[in-house]
Amino acid sequence: MADTLLITRQPHASPTPPHARAALLEDPGFGKVFTDHMVTVRWTADKGWHEAQVRAREPFQLDPAAAVLHYAQEIFEGLKAYRTRGNDVVLFRPLENARRFIDSARRMAMPELPEEVFLGAIEALVRVDADWIPTGDGSLYLRPFMIATEAFLGVRPAQEYVFCVIACPVGAYFKGGAKPVTVWVSADYTRAAPGGTGAAKCGGNYAASLVAQAEAIQNGCDQVVFLDAAEHRYVEELGGMNVFFVFEDGTLVTPPLGGTILPGITRDSILTLAQEAGLTVEERRYSFEEWQADARSGRMREAFACGTAAVLAAIGEIRHNGGAFKIGGGHEGPMTTKLRDQLTGIQRCTGADTHGWVHRIDMEG
Ligand code: PLP
Ligand code: COI
Repeated sequence: MADTLLITRQPHASPTPPHARAALLEDPGFGKVFTDHMVTVRWTADKGWHEAQVRAREPFQLDPAAAVLHYAQEIFEGLKAYRTRGNDVVLFRPLENARRFIDSARRMAMPELPEEVFLGAIEALVRVDADWIPTGDGSLYLRPFMIATEAFLGVRPAQEYVFCVIACPVGAYFKGGAKPVTVWVSADYTRAAPGGTGAAKCGGNYAASLVAQAEAIQNGCDQVVFLDAAEHRYVEELGGMNVFFVFEDGTLVTPPLGGTILPGITRDSILTLAQEAGLTVEERRYSFEEWQADARSGRMREAFACGTAAVLAAIGEIRHNGGAFKIGGGHEGPMTTKLRDQLTGIQRCTGADTHGWVHRIDMEG
């Protein structure tokens, strides 16, 4: 299988006019506005990966028997392109997304997309839709995904797939912007069991989280917090973010990766930055009981959610069937602010990139 594929270009015949694009970029929200193009690459059992194209974004032609529509063989990724003050366009640790995409593909019995093809597809889309990258605090959210397209109702891995990348200009993920979020601890639902698909970024995990997320919204919360499936005691992660706790002695705690939570790239970056800053960092199981007790005693000073879409969001209040409690008086704490500033500084090239996390896109390429 070739690690690189020549991507043919068929630019949009009538792309969005500049004034209409400017209006859409004013307040894009999250996931509502899409750019003009997409990249698609096909996979078949006989040819492997082939037919890589940058072309107008348009609906797929899908057979009603396509495996993805019945057995949910689907995986995705999420990463952002930023326009720097120096007018460069950069990605943050994109090869980590490519690797996680491979891990997700393995778990879902799907073909592995070579890292170079993943990255090449993203770069091609960013180049053609560069005018859609917001300036200021916004970014271009990239959504690579793969679906099983074979028309076949037997239950086995499909023999045909499409990999696709779409993009949307985005602002803050949460409606309240930088305001601390309120989270709902689900008593009835869990996200992932040992041996299940929790560590894979597959659509099914999100489908299964929606009823719990809806319950969170009904209770006036922004996000659901899942506890572990085996004992229903330990905090795992949020519906679409990892979680960190900050203690009075400056220690940072986050649940360990054990196959049931998504290995977040933001999580990994925060762990690295915190360790470098000399903070004590513990990846350990942390129960909801401890959380309530530590909040009550004041030992817990801050909690925050983190992910590509959310960046770092302070958790101000926790609600559950038995009541509610606040962290840090419901306000964002200094550690959350400091870590977010450091991370976004690297991502937007205003801070030093000592780890080689920033990937500059050659816009002429
Ligand atoms: N956990 C879940 C369930 C997610 O959907 C995400 C978002 O991608 C994350 C954690 C954070 O991962 P990352 O930091 O790689 O975006
Ligand atoms: C991301 O942060 O990229 C995600 O996939 C999470 C989702 C809430 C959009």
